[in-house]
Amino acid sequence: MQLDKEAATIRSMFGAIAPRYDLLNHVLSLNIDRRWRRRTARLAQPAGPALDVCTGTGDLAAALHEVAGRPVTGIDFCAPMLVRGSRKKACRGVRFLRGDALNLPFPSNHFDVVSVGFGIRNVQDPDRGLREMVRVARPGGRIAVLEFTRPHNPVVRGLYGLYFRYLLPAVGNLVSRSRAYSYLNRSVRDWATPTELSDRLRAAGCSRVGIHRLTFGIAAVHLGIKA
Ligand SMILES: C[S@@+](CC[C@H](N)C(=O)[O-])C[C@H]1O[C@@H](n2cnc3c(N)ncnc32)[C@H](O)[C@@H]1O
Repeated sequence: MQLDKEAATIRSMFGAIAPRYDLLNHVLSLNIDRRWRRRTARLAQPAGPALDVCTGTGDLAAALHEVAGRPVTGIDFCAPMLVRGSRKKACRGVRFLRGDALNLPFPSNHFDVVSVGFGIRNVQDPDRGLREMVRVARPGGRIAVLEFTRPHNPVVRGLYGLYFRYLLPAVGNLVSRSRAYSYLNRSVRDWATPTELSDRLRAAGCSRVGIHRLTFGIAAVHLGIKA
């Protein structure tokens, strides 16, 4: 059965888990997710205005702010996620904005860096989302996509598969009192490989796309330059 990625479904799912989203992220990843966002920010190295799309509670935007030393804009269409983010001390340097990744309310050729962390997989039309990210980036600007991937090593893949398939949904669904962590497991399973995602970034208008694998290939940063 196809996953339902209708905007209303996705928005209400994240709205329901917003109060526990950060806690579950950090606990279920043993805090490794923080390192992944910091690495993404360092690879993207904003030297001008930066935008984080599907920002949720703003952790990647905050990491970009730390590197850039200037305010970063974070946009998401789920108000409860934005509200949680805007209350966080770590997000003092983030300007939260409500809006749709498929129709970004910014002029073309503006941002030095446009990032998305664990978000593009949830967007109803990911290719259109990538094209929008590229559109609002300046020529020569960086597009950074942080996403889950499937590890190469068969042993790691086997162990991680068990964790992601059974333990993570069980704990996540229980704590968030939702089915969101079953959705997470399925959405990652059905998602593009890093090579496929890089091709999609190129199709959206990026050149020199590089893949930076993180933690045994559990996640990767896909970094492209707007041509
Ligand atoms: C898994 S969370 C990621 C949040 C954050 N980037 C992080 O690293 O934790 C995915 C986010 O994407 C947002 N999202 C999904 N589709 C969207 C769209 N079309 N426009 C804006 N936000 C969207 C959801 O509301 C949710 O907050």
